Amino acid sequence: DWTPGNVIADQVAAIKAQIGTSRVICALSGGVDSAVAAALVQRAVGDQLTCVHVDHGLMRAGEVEQIENDFVASTGVRLIVRDEKERFLTALAGVSDPETKRKIIGREFIRVFEDAQRDIVAEAGEHGEDVKFLVQGTLYPDVVESGGGEGAANIKSHHNVGGLPDDLDFDLVEPLRTLFKDEVRAVGRELGVPEEIVSRQPFPGPGLGIRIVGEITAERLEILRRADAIAREELTKAGLDNEIWQCPVVLLADVRSVGVQGDGRTYGHPIVLRPVSSEDAMTADWTRLPYDVLSTISTRITNEVREVNRVVLDVTSKPPGTIEWE
Ligand code: XMP
Repeated sequence: DWTPGNVIADQVAAIKAQIGTSRVICALSGGVDSAVAAALVQRAVGDQLTCVHVDHGLMRAGEVEQIENDFVASTGVRLIVRDEKERFLTALAGVSDPETKRKIIGREFIRVFEDAQRDIVAEAGEHGEDVKFLVQGTLYPDVVESGGGEGAANIKSHHNVGGLPDDLDFDLVEPLRTLFKDEVRAVGRELGVPEEIVSRQPFPGPGLGIRIVGEITAERLEILRRADAIAREELTKAGLDNEIWQCPVVLLADVRSVGVQGDGRTYGHPIVLRPVSSEDAMTADWTRLPYDVLSTISTRITNEVREVNRVVLDVTSKPPGTIEWE
């Protein structure tokens, strides 16, 4: 019988057998897959697992706290958070080209993770322990897509921050290899992973960095974070989270338009709402959100985020538009 409880029991036994008394590390992105994979491994081998979250400063409002507080409290995972916001901002300074942004974010991520990993290996070594394993949240569709061979986890690494280089000297632990996304969610719930993480919609590894059209700065990230939080709050309040695949909120940082707010003329930035419906993100249609919800989001963003004086709706399907703007 397929039940989340049975999957957990089987995987816990398999993970124990694979890992033995060795130590194991896991990169936690804040997404569903790495969180559930980590929770399973923690259930099996407890503190032999150390998780690392690289805080690149490109997450949405509340997400790092969700990992740092809620995820740790509910799973007991031992977590190291590397605050690398300044490092990423410095590396990204002056860069507007989307592919260059992605490359820089991916490269810095790997460097930081390797630093953290070296620290963990050194600390374990002092206790005569061996760090041999790396957890990956590979799902069944990823395995199939890559032909099911070794290195399946790396197939999307160009598309995935958290995609680690394949020359890492670790054996992989992939407890979700036989599962589909909805099964992973069921297992996560059974393990007590917080609902905000379990039901999270897709969010790109490079985060808000590819939702600012133009250069990434701390101020622009803050503007986008506030607008995004309002849009997410209103979509949830309207009960629309299950209707949409995801709704990127994009800041057109290099575009300005004239507006009037209060008694004065403004020259602010537009925010784009990009609600999409999709089965697998390969193709998508724009979601016909109710006008009153769009209206509330628009009014709130322009009232509450001073730098934004216009909210626009993206009504493009994929293709020709991609879901993300960069
Ligand atoms: P596009 O923009 O290509 O996005 O239509 C398709 C889906 O992939 C997500 N996405 C990413 N996910 N790392 C990820 O983990 C990335 O670099 C990345 N870029 C896009 C996007 O949010 C959508 O769900």
